[in-house]
Amino acid sequence: MKKNNPIGLFDSGIGGTSIWKEINKLLPLENSIYLADSKNAPYGLKSKDEIIVLSKKNTEILLNRNCKIIVVACNTATTNAIKELRSTYDVPFIGIEPAIKPAANNSLTHTIGILATKGTLNSDLFHKTSSLFENVKIVEQIGYGLVQLIENGDIDTPEMFNLLKSYLNPMIEQNIDFLVLGCSHYPYLIPQIKKILPSKIKIIDSGEAVAIQTKKILNQNGLLNNSNTEIKNTFFTNSNPKVLTEILNNQYKVIEEDF
Ligand code: DGL
Repeated sequence: MKKNNPIGLFDSGIGGTSIWKEINKLLPLENSIYLADSKNAPYGLKSKDEIIVLSKKNTEILLNRNCKIIVVACNTATTNAIKELRSTYDVPFIGIEPAIKPAANNSLTHTIGILATKGTLNSDLFHKTSSLFENVKIVEQIGYGLVQLIENGDIDTPEMFNLLKSYLNPMIEQNIDFLVLGCSHYPYLIPQIKKILPSKIKIIDSGEAVAIQTKKILNQNGLLNNSNTEIKNTFFTNSNPKVLTEILNNQYKVIEEDF
């Protein structure tokens, strides 16, 4: 595998760009290919088997384009499919899981909230992680409808704000002091969430940790790019290129393809 081969990332849509941005910030010399499977969003309401099939499809597209590592930039795909991916393909995988651990370890009220998809909250991997923190109450909330609104570009709308309020107010009432964002789409909602949560409640997402882990694994495998050739970041989507272009601040060309 060559060091200047791209990092491959996939998500059910545009949300994983929040992870891509963290990786690009930490590893600006890396080439990358991002796949937004927006046509099949949301993954969060699909069965485990369906999520595995879609995750394999995305992985194979990225491997055919010579990606040296795959970042599963989706909590739902990670918690449901990463085991299967790791046992099927001979390439390093980086997954993203809700950051329960730092929230639970630092909570003073011993109560934390998590907002994630149904697929993530119902997964065995999530149950395993959350059961490690017996002394902390974890208030779980499925973010029904949030991914669909984000995929439509409806981020800063009254509908989004009202939906978020209905999910977050019960958590505030239960005295959480951390809110874990367990879906890679949700960091794009932080400005709206901050208008609802009192400032003493901290918001945690996993983007930076995933970037650090990606760097570590590339380094361990001798795969960090050190060539001086021009860097290429390529974005593919199978639906709605406008929203992906906008979430990338119109700085990158987005290619629409059927996959
Ligand atoms: N970005 C995905 C995640 O992190 C969204 C899931 C969905 O498509 O429902 O879970």
